[in-house]
Amino acid sequence: MEDEEGEEYLFKVVIIGDSAVGKSNLLSRYARNEFNINSKATIGVEFQTQSMEIDGKEVKAQIWDTAGQERFRAVTSAYYRGAVGALVVYDISRRSTFDSVARWLDELKTHSETTVARMLVGNKSDLENIRDVSVEEGKSLAEAEGLFFIETSALDSTNVKKAFEIVIREIY
Ligand code: GTP
Ligand code: MG
Repeated sequence: MEDEEGEEYLFKVVIIGDSAVGKSNLLSRYARNEFNINSKATIGVEFQTQSMEIDGKEVKAQIWDTAGQERFRAVTSAYYRGAVGALVVYDISRRSTFDSVARWLDELKTHSETTVARMLVGNKSDLENIRDVSVEEGKSLAEAEGLFFIETSALDSTNVKKAFEIVIREIY
């Protein structure tokens, strides 16, 4: 989207993945530098608008976060409508969340109208001692599906900014 001066861009980015992988905390860490150890499951949809500067232009991303739990989700087609970027998140300490990635990618494909810049995000990299999915597995899945790949920690902030900004840059 562009204003009269042609200086402003607004992109919609969605965060998807199983419940409790840390989607809401990735967003709150990125947008407000906040982390909540006791965060509740998201009900419905929330979004935050975040600005960054690319090549001297202000770029705004409207980042949407919804429930990983089916029963708390809002209308799926509305959630994906107009999205040009997506973070597909799993929890490196829970293999079942990694196994679900294929299903999330299917849903994204079904509902997206245009090419979407996609980042596979292995969150909770701080939980190295109970890691259940190796970095290599993450990388090869991303490669096979044509996604970017990164591991993050919303808890200690590792790579959170980078994850969002790589996607936003790719769109721009
Ligand atoms: P739904 O809204 O149900 O889909 O879950 P969600 O994906 O939004 O997960 P949420 O951000 O609510 O986080 C779930 C739990 O994981 C919370 O207890 C968080 O504190 C915790 N958590 C989130 N990110 C991290 C992380 O990077 N490291 C660790 N150790 N815990 C995290
Ligand atoms: Mg949530």
